[in-house]
Amino acid sequence: MNVFITGATGFLGGELLVDLSKKKEIDKIFCLVRAESKEKAAERLKKVFDFRNDFFDKDKIIPVPGDLIQNNLTELLASDQSLSDVNYIIHSAADTSFSPIYDDLVEQININGLEKILKWSSQLKNLITFTYVGTATICGMDMKNRVVKEDESPNEKVKHLVKYTETKMRGEIMVHNHLPEEKILIVRPSIIMGDCRPHTPRSYVIMWALAAINLLRLVPINPNAQLDIIPVDYASRAIIELLFSKRNYSVYHISAGKDSATTPLQSTQAIEHYFPHRPEFIFVGRELIREVKLWARKQLNGHSTLKSHREHINYWNDIFDDATDLRILMGGLEPYLDFIELGQVFDNSRLLQDTKIGLPEPAHEYMKRSAHFLDKIDVFAAALAP
Ligand SMILES: NC(=O)c1ccc[n+]([C@@H]2O[C@H](COP(=O)([O-])OP(=O)(O)OC[C@H]3O[C@@H](n4cnc5c(N)ncnc54)[C@H](OP(=O)(O)O)[C@@H]3O)[C@@H](O)[C@H]2O)c1
Repeated sequence: MNVFITGATGFLGGELLVDLSKKKEIDKIFCLVRAESKEKAAERLKKVFDFRNDFFDKDKIIPVPGDLIQNNLTELLASDQSLSDVNYIIHSAADTSFSPIYDDLVEQININGLEKILKWSSQLKNLITFTYVGTATICGMDMKNRVVKEDESPNEKVKHLVKYTETKMRGEIMVHNHLPEEKILIVRPSIIMGDCRPHTPRSYVIMWALAAINLLRLVPINPNAQLDIIPVDYASRAIIELLFSKRNYSVYHISAGKDSATTPLQSTQAIEHYFPHRPEFIFVGRELIREVKLWARKQLNGHSTLKSHREHINYWNDIFDDATDLRILMGGLEPYLDFIELGQVFDNSRLLQDTKIGLPEPAHEYMKRSAHFLDKIDVFAAALAP
């Protein structure tokens, strides 16, 4: 059997590719990769394997240079005879930016790009399953502090915090419009952060936000908000298990669910003692973000709540060369804080029922093994492109 995957150079896609490559029953894995040539694409894929010294089988991993924003992508894929016998597609590529400055690109990649892949897929004679990697957060911002079920989405009426989740929601609808139901598998991971194995995660996406919170120590968030976080290795295993198992549904949350969810309080407590020289974590109201920004501009006058946190202010004066750094961090963090505040947990009973994967380890457990990575993360670079 042959697999075609997009996004294999990414955080989740990289794990999926390496895990799939170890399956003997898979003959070829074709990977759509942004690159100028087949050779350059192969180099990028080899790096995915080199990252953890996994075996790169060049006869099995076949690069397909291509970009989701190129106009002729459908025709390019359709004219490639080696792809005519693809049986499984995993579409993991996406632009995951939260910042509104990338909204046009997010639309082009997550909607127009997906449409090109779908048009090609619908011509494939031997296609068994098209897997669309969506996101559980397509449920929107009105579902707060509760468990969300798969069949509550997609709903075109819900409001979204960012364009990214809105495009992922429309993407799901497009998949249904292009392919017959029996060929569709939609997997919706919750928040993917880190890796529960004791090695460097492939990407610090999301984890940078914990690193930033760990640096700031004054956290404008509800400490008890329920947070649905999973490690990337679990997400990859769950998706592959679902792909090859007998499924009772076409849509699955890949999530921690209520039994493995965490909270900001639990996650910060898990890492606190690794950084004994920093002030303790203090959770404060969201209104303090405004005061922090004013303080960073040296415009915080008169009476303010922030001034009562003298230890934290002194600590910020010590660690930030320039108060602008603090504004950059806060600015980058804000959309993440908005998501955390929603308190959404995604029901995972379908996944647990149809696979043997079991529950993921809660983030406040596996993050204890990853705490030493937090200070290696360039939080400022991440905050500038959230
Ligand atoms: N991370 C999470 O917490 C999370 C949670 C829920 C769902 N998801 C979903 O999981 C999937 C993977 O996310 P991720 O965190 O692994 O993202 P990521 O690390 O940013 O990886 C994105 C991948 O998409 C590729 N890509 C982006 N634009 C492309 C284009 N124009 N043409 C071809 N390929 C392109 C990237 O290629 P380059 O290497 O060339 O940039 C990269 O391989 C996404 O569909 C996302 O919506 C992620």
